[in-house]
Amino acid sequence: MKTITELKLAQRPTLIRVDYNVPLKDGAVADDTRLRATLPTLRYALEQKARVILASHLGRPKGKRVPELSLAPVAKRLAELLGQEVKFAPDCIGPEVEKMVAELAPGEVLLLENLRFHEGETKNDPEFAKALARLAEVYVNDAFAVCHRAHASVVGVVAYVSECGAGFLLAREIKYLTTLLESPQKPVALVIGGAKVSTKVGVLRNLLTRIDKLLIGGAMANTFLVAEGLKVGTSFYEEEFVEEAKAVLDEAERRGVKVYLPVDVVVARDKEAEKGENVCVYEIPEDQGVYDIGKETRKLYAAALEGMGTIVWNGPLGLFENPAFAKGTAKVARKAAATNAVTIAGGGDTLRALKNAGVKRAFSYLSTGGGAFLEFLEGKELPGIAALKQKN
Ligand code: 3PG
Repeated sequence: MKTITELKLAQRPTLIRVDYNVPLKDGAVADDTRLRATLPTLRYALEQKARVILASHLGRPKGKRVPELSLAPVAKRLAELLGQEVKFAPDCIGPEVEKMVAELAPGEVLLLENLRFHEGETKNDPEFAKALARLAEVYVNDAFAVCHRAHASVVGVVAYVSECGAGFLLAREIKYLTTLLESPQKPVALVIGGAKVSTKVGVLRNLLTRIDKLLIGGAMANTFLVAEGLKVGTSFYEEEFVEEAKAVLDEAERRGVKVYLPVDVVVARDKEAEKGENVCVYEIPEDQGVYDIGKETRKLYAAALEGMGTIVWNGPLGLFENPAFAKGTAKVARKAAATNAVTIAGGGDTLRALKNAGVKRAFSYLSTGGGAFLEFLEGKELPGIAALKQKN
């Protein structure tokens, strides 16, 4: 796959697919991490005097123009970050946009309106892909977080541009995550949490062949506790994935992977409770649910991370949005950050939980991907990456 430094950008209209699918609040960008992550690519393209056209989706407007999902606030924030004007197109294809592109000078930036206002984007419609390609001579993909979607601006467009390659963000994600899968610093621990086993089974299966320790938390740990024959009160768990959880535990044993499940937990009547109670996993009250890992489990998990070469983290270990249930994630995350291990995390909730624990910056690598991060770790070839490889 070519990278941006191998492409001739000077004077040429260059379409850069970015992932600016960011949270908005009161008409402004609430978290600009994904914007900042693309700055090296944008600065490089601007130094090369490219005519920079940026394309992104925001939310899931399903082919309709939804004013709340306009990228206009993103243009504003990006201009502040870049320290230069970011022009904003009222659409992403069509004669008006083509005129704006024709008038764009080298070293200038134009952000297109939300790609998903057209249903051709998610349908990977060739006509829509051609209309996008018509805007540019060069195509750069710097949107790792959407590379698991076979959409027009990620896959289809590649066939209709003369040159294409990966931006710095995409190249870096591929490099880090490939190293993690193929030659990680050993031993490797996977800390996995979040609500559902169902969304993580692929990752668990693929990583079981590569890890030494597996630490499970979050609501998904409840499904594992049920698989071990325990009762989890009113806690959320996935009945239909209990057998799968058992299979994961069996496979881990066969492969010599040490599995850590909570030995104690924080329970409460509901998720809004101001305070929880610490109980042993054998004593979860029938009328209460589990919302965090308990004190002993935190110590156990922190100690398990000692001496690891690599720690991979996906999913919070408790309902961290409520401070009463944030301690488990915070303590284990602080420990991970304090080790000498390479620490890698991905997923929107995960990064928010690490930020909440004050350790986000201390991690070695934070992926910008959510679904894409998981699918990459499942060992799948992401369509956006495959398209770039095939073209070159
Ligand atoms: C993400 O935020 O994970 C990406 O932007 C993909 O968004 P999607 O799940 O709506 O395709």
